[in-house]
Amino acid sequence: MDLKGKVAYITGGTKGIGYGIAEVLLKHGMKVAISGRKIEDAEKSASSLSSNPDEVLGISSDVTKLSDEKNAIEVILDKWGHVDVILANAGVGHFAPIDELEDDKWQQMINTNLNGVYHTLKASVEALKQAKGYYITLASLAGTNFFPTAAGYNATKFGVVGFTQAAMLDLRPYDIKVSTIMPGSVASHFNNNTPSDSDTWKIQPEDIGELVVDLLKMHPRTLPSKIEVRPTRPDKKK
Ligand SMILES: NC(=O)c1ccc[n+]([C@@H]2O[C@H](COP(=O)([O-])OP(=O)(O)OC[C@H]3O[C@@H](n4cnc5c(N)ncnc54)[C@H](OP(=O)(O)O)[C@@H]3O)[C@@H](O)[C@H]2O)c1
Repeated sequence: MDLKGKVAYITGGTKGIGYGIAEVLLKHGMKVAISGRKIEDAEKSASSLSSNPDEVLGISSDVTKLSDEKNAIEVILDKWGHVDVILANAGVGHFAPIDELEDDKWQQMINTNLNGVYHTLKASVEALKQAKGYYITLASLAGTNFFPTAAGYNATKFGVVGFTQAAMLDLRPYDIKVSTIMPGSVASHFNNNTPSDSDTWKIQPEDIGELVVDLLKMHPRTLPSKIEVRPTRPDKKK
């Protein structure tokens, strides 16, 4: 894909991985819409990404609601006329042994991480058909490795990997590419982390952005459908 002038929509782009991907896509000449639950946060992050309103847009959308995601796609089409790349990135993680995991935390993870990627795809699939575009989900290594305290999070990310792979089979006849990226530890605000010097061993959000660019630039005949990515060296303290 020639990236210049192409339009990307990144759910949950106000901070963390989504924000890092937005920075990199803008550097490559793309136009980028980011979303978050609060309009003031989405607009603030959009204006710190770029002072040029022709190339960036902040949208309020809660991915747990299909109507919000439909509205987000309409707003993007009104502004730019097409949407070529979707990053279904918004996600939350709550970690506790299953007997202690609170019901509302389970529901929030299922509604955001799993129902959210479904809502984003349902809202954008006709536009992606028009654009012969690319739909990418941010799953996790927790979508293939299970661990204690992660029953809820594992359930969502295993679900995202299965959803994305099956959707890939459904959509490739339309020349829509579909991939899932499965990162290990990334320096972001995930799970109440504040990125700091002790996070330098982790993948940085812009590294995921560079990976997205590699995927977008891959020859049209070739599709890496599932990408595991991890820190080269694990945390020395562990
Ligand atoms: N960090 C890691 O180590 C890691 C590893 C593997 C996978 N991941 C996955 O990567 C994705 C991004 O996480 P991150 O690490 O960047 O976390 P983060 O720094 O906490 O950012 C999460 C983003 O999701 C948005 N968000 C949360 N709930 C939302 C909702 N209901 N609707 C719309 N946006 C929502 C937040 O925006 P607002 O707060 O502004 O709404 C924020 O922009 C997640 O799917 C996560 O599971 C993270």
